Amino acid sequence: MLVYQSVLVVSVVQVVMCRADVSLWPRPSPSWTPVAGRVLREALTGPLSGHQVMLMVDDGVQRSLSLDLLLTGLTSPTVLLHTTTHNTDNHFTTQQLPTAQDVLLVVVGTGSPWLLWSPPGWLSPRVVLVLVAAQTCSARKHFQSPLLQNTPSVALLCLNHKPQTPEYSTYSVMTHLPLSANPEPVSLGTWHPNTFMTLEHIFPDQFQDFGGTALRATVSIFDKPAVFQRDDGEVDGFSTRILAAMAYWLNFTYTYNIPEVAVWGEYLENGTYTGIIGDVQRGESHLAINYFALTYQRSQDFDYSVSYFREGFGLILRDPPPLPHWQSILYPYTGVVWAAVCGVVILTTVAYYFVSFRGIRLSFIISFLIVFQSFLSQNVNQVPRVWVSRGLLGLWLLATWVLRVSYTSNLMAFLTVPTFQPPLTTLVQLADSEFRLCMVNYGEFVPEALATSSHPILARLGAKMDLVPSAEHLPFMGQEGCMELVIAGTHAHVDAYSFVLLQYSDYDADSQVYPLKEQLYVGSQVFFFTKRTPWKYKFDIGMRRLVEAGLVLYWYTEIMQEETHNPKVRESRLPVLSLSHLQGPFLLLAVGGGLATIALLAERLLHPNTTSP
Ligand SMILES: *[C@@H]1O[C@H](CO)[C@@H](O)[C@H](O)[C@H]1NC(C)=O
Ligand SMILES: *[C@@H]1O[C@H](CO)[C@@H](O)[C@H](O)[C@H]1NC(C)=O
Repeated sequence: MLVYQSVLVVSVVQVVMCRADVSLWPRPSPSWTPVAGRVLREALTGPLSGHQVMLMVDDGVQRSLSLDLLLTGLTSPTVLLHTTTHNTDNHFTTQQLPTAQDVLLVVVGTGSPWLLWSPPGWLSPRVVLVLVAAQTCSARKHFQSPLLQNTPSVALLCLNHKPQTPEYSTYSVMTHLPLSANPEPVSLGTWHPNTFMTLEHIFPDQFQDFGGTALRATVSIFDKPAVFQRDDGEVDGFSTRILAAMAYWLNFTYTYNIPEVAVWGEYLENGTYTGIIGDVQRGESHLAINYFALTYQRSQDFDYSVSYFREGFGLILRDPPPLPHWQSILYPYTGVVWAAVCGVVILTTVAYYFVSFRGIRLSFIISFLIVFQSFLSQNVNQVPRVWVSRGLLGLWLLATWVLRVSYTSNLMAFLTVPTFQPPLTTLVQLADSEFRLCMVNYGEFVPEALATSSHPILARLGAKMDLVPSAEHLPFMGQEGCMELVIAGTHAHVDAYSFVLLQYSDYDADSQVYPLKEQLYVGSQVFFFTKRTPWKYKFDIGMRRLVEAGLVLYWYTEIMQEETHNPKVRESRLPVLSLSHLQGPFLLLAVGGGLATIALLAERLLHPNTTSP
């Protein structure tokens, strides 16, 4: 039993056990105690039934009241936290602590119960109901305690003591609107199980109106399209538009703290963060609206909203150099088609050669020339007499006509549009390629995550990562370092997908680069709030509505279109057909002319006396 008194006991309530425990202090109890016990039971069997309830009885109550009476007949399974010491964090590992307790029911007496004023770190219920088992109820003071300030829904049950007839004492339900103009406790009426049948009755939305509260956010304005500054100084972005919509809906104002040097923030060994998210952790800023992806570590140290966007890190590569122009005469057909065409020419030659045996016998060379000349749009000057040869040649002429048309039209296309080696599309291809990776060192988790990844492809990419310092005095904050390497064709630039695309557009280099189709670490973008922000759930509701209505995507698309170059500018960059594009055909003409000249000379030398017919 002594153990029970010195440490916290977590156990499923066995009323019997409580009795044994409580019987250590047999004390006379005030005559209204049965009322408190009844209200407690009614709450547990009424609105709280079906919820995971954690019951906590303050030491003060145990000394002045008979817990025995208070808990008589309590049958619903509840986790009881029973303690005589504050030092709960030291006694329990997380495994031993009750999990998923969404409702905390606290029975307090007089004084300042430690649970309300210094709640242990692991305790973060969604709902707290405080039953004051004392004649005086300092509601305003209780509502100011850290536990109640940090919980989304709180209510107090205060005794209306009737000195003459204490057994007819009643309880009233008190709540407060912490952010409204008047944060005084408000009574919701006298407790009766039929009036307060559900949680919603006891806990009306306490954050319907933020009453013009001023929220602060430290932002980086170098975060297009999420947050950026327009030329007229206005801060815009699809994240800030979400915040503006929330401010309108919830009636709050917001100010931006825009530091000269805004880093996202790293996680330090001692559990603190630097940068924008560090400000949120310390409570200097209420929320972080920049492009922040949800990571496990951040999810442990912050409250976070629902996701409003999904995106990963893009990899920007230089367009592969165009293939040499003179090769363009070969592009219309792929290798296989070229091989097939050669095969068909040979096959037809052989067939024509054998078919010609029926009439005037032709040499193999002549057969070949007849077959091949139609291929080059040359006239057939003698129609064969034999019908089989005639039919074969007719079919062949038709086939070569189709081939010629397809070749010529493809050639025209290939002459005008520059041809490239196929771009990379997957991370595997990138890992196999010569490209190294480049990223600006502003505290993003990517370089470290890649370097320590157990995934072979990611680890190989991590080994190729080069970091360049961020440079606040430069127009692109140090992104220039990576951009130059990308334009030089040695590196792939890693950064938030939309952001880095827009950077190249601003850098006027978007026509020279392309993003890898596959993205790295696709994740959920969220707003981060200081841990235990009680009104965070209102942002969840509002942001989910904005996402589902399509507004977030609409704002994103609008900003992306506005900020990338006008498509008309791109059109004017289309190449003009020049002599250099026709290198291939001219080369072929020269080769053909040269061969013809050699043939003519050879003929003249070998058969000097022959005259043409
Ligand atoms: C917003 O809050 C202010 C300040 O408390 C209040 O005067 C105003 O009525 C509220 N607006 C709305 C629409 O509730
Ligand atoms: C954590 O470490 C950083 C840097 O080492 C230091 O600046 C900061 O004060 C430390 N914070 C705490 C709470 O110890």
